[in-house]
Amino acid sequence: MFDQLAHIKDKRLIAIYDSAENLGLYMDRENISHLDSVISSIPFVVLPTELSISILSEAKRYLKKGGIFIQYNYSRILKDLYKTIFQNYTSEYVLLNTPPAFIFKCTKK
Ligand SMILES: C[S@@+](CC[C@H](N)C(=O)[O-])C[C@H]1O[C@@H](n2cnc3c(N)ncnc32)[C@H](O)[C@@H]1O
Repeated sequence: MFDQLAHIKDKRLIAIYDSAENLGLYMDRENISHLDSVISSIPFVVLPTELSISILSEAKRYLKKGGIFIQYNYSRILKDLYKTIFQNYTSEYVLLNTPPAFIFKCTKK
């Protein structure tokens, strides 16, 4: 997927092949202070809890106030984790995804 993304010639796209827990390194490198939104399909269900917390905390840290974190999962098993980090979430079940998935949306207050 990275190879395919890296071929897209668009100045707005910065393709990075690294773990999302290192987000801060690239925010600094690219001189970006805040993000409007984070869209993730990282499989938190199979990651160590500490790594998941680290990634979600970094995402929250760099989101602007009112910024949105969007995550898709195939179950609701991690809903409490999202609530712990963001103190809020909404979710919807999207049948049109293949396979159908839950979309979680958290807002940075
Ligand atoms: C279910 S796939 C989704 C792939 C793609 N985003 C899509 O929607 O087709 C999960 C992706 O999360 C990536 N991933 C797993 N752990 C990660 C981490 N710590 N940081 C960033 N990406 C990770 C995997 O490499 C894999 O590409």
